[in-house]
Amino acid sequence: MDIAIFDASDEVTNYAFRLIQHQLECKQDSVLGLATGATMEPLYARLRSLDLSGAISFNLDEYVGLSNDHPCSYAAYMRTHLFSYSAFKESHLLDGLASDIDEHCSEYERRMVECGGVDLQLLGIGSDGHIAFNEPGSSLASRTRLKVLTPMTREANAKHFPSGEEVPNFVLTMGVGTIMQARHCVLLAHGESKAEAVERALEGGVSAFCPASALQMHPKTTVILDREAASRLKLKDYYRTVFESRRL
Ligand code: GLP
Repeated sequence: MDIAIFDASDEVTNYAFRLIQHQLECKQDSVLGLATGATMEPLYARLRSLDLSGAISFNLDEYVGLSNDHPCSYAAYMRTHLFSYSAFKESHLLDGLASDIDEHCSEYERRMVECGGVDLQLLGIGSDGHIAFNEPGSSLASRTRLKVLTPMTREANAKHFPSGEEVPNFVLTMGVGTIMQARHCVLLAHGESKAEAVERALEGGVSAFCPASALQMHPKTTVILDREAASRLKLKDYYRTVFESRRL
């Protein structure tokens, strides 16, 4: 695992941008796995400057029951922050209104394989250690499927919904096993509210209780943190030394 710790959160965005830029320089028709959430917003603002017309995207997750034109759907999030500015060759999103959920999720996985698999998967982290919408207790071998959100995640995501509108209970999400098949996973975290989850993911045991900890078993993961998100890491000074020495 490569762990990059920066003093400021814009350096986190900048480093992630450079990784994606490099990926696209090496392979114009890269398959990018895309995440949502506040962490990704400044990164998507930067990505709009890139030519993504040869690339293919797959989003991690979606709320069940929201149509793709619902303003709080992740489809709307992607249009607002990226797709309206810079179109991909193909963009795949899970459909929160799919009538046959199992078939829809299997078809999503099949399409990912047909496209050659995900080259670079962007990830945020929930304060309970979730990646995508794989909540604590998710099998580390799980595939794309229906999940139930924890009260903690529903509360954290309520800020994205207008007051009076409930955060859905059910979601569709790529599984931990699906994410682990990406060739390169890139996890970003900003701020102190993520420090405990980051500590458990990076320095705790590998456990379904903290789905992000599965990344310890991934052959190529880059974790990009600001100082606050890294603040609880026991070996943070060591990680900085290793990262600096790699750049020499
Ligand atoms: C949601 C998404 C996750 C994301 C998380 C963190 O739960 N499903 O993919 O990582 O939010 O979001 P934020 O970046 O807003 O903290």
